[in-house]
Amino acid sequence: MLEEYLNRIIHGDCLDVLHKLPDACIDLVVTSPPYNLKNSTGNGMKDGRGGKWANAALIKGYENYDDCMPVEEYALWQHEVLLELVRVIKDDGAIFYNHKWRVQDGLIQDRRDIVYDVPLRQIIIWKRKGGINFNAGYFLPTYEVIYLIAKKDFKLAPHCNRYGDVWEIMQEQRNDHPAPFPVELIDRIISSTTAQIVLDPFMGSGTTAVVAAGLGRDFIGIEKSAKYCESAMARLEKNKIYPEVAKFHQLDLFQLTPPPIKQKKTKQINDHDTQSLF
Ligand SMILES: C[S@@+](CC[C@H](N)C(=O)[O-])C[C@H]1O[C@@H](n2cnc3c(N)ncnc32)[C@H](O)[C@@H]1O
Repeated sequence: MLEEYLNRIIHGDCLDVLHKLPDACIDLVVTSPPYNLKNSTGNGMKDGRGGKWANAALIKGYENYDDCMPVEEYALWQHEVLLELVRVIKDDGAIFYNHKWRVQDGLIQDRRDIVYDVPLRQIIIWKRKGGINFNAGYFLPTYEVIYLIAKKDFKLAPHCNRYGDVWEIMQEQRNDHPAPFPVELIDRIISSTTAQIVLDPFMGSGTTAVVAAGLGRDFIGIEKSAKYCESAMARLEKNKIYPEVAKFHQLDLFQLTPPPIKQKKTKQINDHDTQSLF
């Protein structure tokens, strides 16, 4: 039954599509929802006043979604999405849920109203370069968070815990979508797992699909905007010829054929001998 969704970007509302997926069918979710940025206690991005905000890509919201829900309604919606995502992942599955903390009315909004009653395991800091903020009441925010929500049997791919929990990755520069993931960030996440089926319920420009396909994994994408669906499909086609993930894996290519190392003949020491050395 899952076959009909595999390696497709489905045009629709994420909850409508998620409700149709069976329990425990997905290995990995990687996603970034709309942040509700236009609902702001300050001027925020409401009308573009404030210098550089006038050019911010999200000033108009998304193509057919205004990103401006009442705060409680937004939190309830996102919590419902998270519960559905937890339902569809397997017992060794995980969700990498990217969000942004921000200051509203002088107090931090840390998304605790969304991320509760789910098996939250770790918070990864994605340190972005730069940022824009004109508020003298607090320091310039320079990071976003990635919640690692994982079921009990989830494990990273071998050696990947060495990345640590603070990732310094430049935001995406060349993408027409107003809030795209950097390819490097999604490459880091997917290649740190052995997941075969990767789901992104807010697919946007298709970054999760492009990286999953480039790494030989299957993907399922859901996106509300027909325009973004079309451009994501076109990007996937282009990636068959010019894979965007390739540049992050050039080292791997070299590692496939390591130079031969001349070994000195040594007496073989077995486990028993090793113990006797100490
Ligand atoms: C932050 S963007 C995701 C960008 C994506 N990570 C990328 O790399 O391009 C959020 C996306 O969610 C989409 N969206 C908003 N509401 C949605 C809904 N109810 N169901 C599915 N997609 C939705 C928006 O159109 C937008 O493209």
